[in-house]
Amino acid sequence: MQISKVIIPVAGWGTRSLPATKNIPKEMLPIYNKPVVQYVVEEAMYSGLTDVVFINNRDKKIIEDHFDYNLALEIVLERAGKTGLLEEVRKVAEMVNIISVRQKKQLGLGHAVLCAKEVVKNDPFAVMVGDDLMFGPDPGIKQLLDVAKDEKLSVIGVMEVPPDKVNRYGIIDGDEFAPGMYRVRDLVEKPKVGEAPSRLAIVGRYVLAPEIIGHLETQEPGHGGEIQLTDALKELARSNSLLAVRMRGQRFDAGDWVDYLTANIYFALQDDQLHDDLKMRLKDFLQLH
Ligand code: UTP
Repeated sequence: MQISKVIIPVAGWGTRSLPATKNIPKEMLPIYNKPVVQYVVEEAMYSGLTDVVFINNRDKKIIEDHFDYNLALEIVLERAGKTGLLEEVRKVAEMVNIISVRQKKQLGLGHAVLCAKEVVKNDPFAVMVGDDLMFGPDPGIKQLLDVAKDEKLSVIGVMEVPPDKVNRYGIIDGDEFAPGMYRVRDLVEKPKVGEAPSRLAIVGRYVLAPEIIGHLETQEPGHGGEIQLTDALKELARSNSLLAVRMRGQRFDAGDWVDYLTANIYFALQDDQLHDDLKMRLKDFLQLH
């Protein structure tokens, strides 16, 4: 079955990014010349997903607005003859269909996904965390959609992390049945360093069977008092219906300042117009500091 819907939760408080996020959603902070969430939506679009379900809150309306037409701005750009910019601004409104669902209380990522229950109905769907950026040879979520299609099971994206960082992630315990593909036996949310079953961390990409919704409905608050998606995924692992795929490419967590700043440089360096000047400035700067 062709999967068309992707849930992108963007309702969190973004406390790690304060004070920048006091009034601007973390997902709208710019990375070079686009907001974080635009990179996520572009990845969805390039993977063939057409319907984006934003899980948002009362202060996140500007996220939906970003993916809509801004007619006043278009008129200004048209009159000024700025056709390149006009095209670029218009293109953002035409990427995907937008569906918006409120998460009235920020009870965690699992709860955010559960909020989309009425929209996903009985179909499998994708989940992309709204502040996690992924760049590689193929769009990140496509790597999982391809496996889910062949294996007809739920699939989560994992990446290897250093041993001292396992306590920041959900970590899988699994058997590698093909290169980079694992049958997941169990998952542990943020294990202590030295107690993790592996170094394979769940990153913000999932393709899920609709059964996950039932598992989320019966979840008690877990780690940090939040309804954890990882806890519901454990139930899929228990019934032998969860795979993990080691994702290829670069990942940036926009909620982490080092990743956020590195991502800005990474994307700015891809732009030929900036590349040489920026490289020179960075080189001079690093010599001085
Ligand atoms: P994070 O845990 O990274 O986001 O959740 P946060 O809670 O906003 O950030 P910090 O830790 O306080 O800095 C990953 C994604 O899930 C969304 C967030 O908006 C983010 O894009 N999320 C998180 C929700 O939509 N609802 C929630 O209840 C929690």
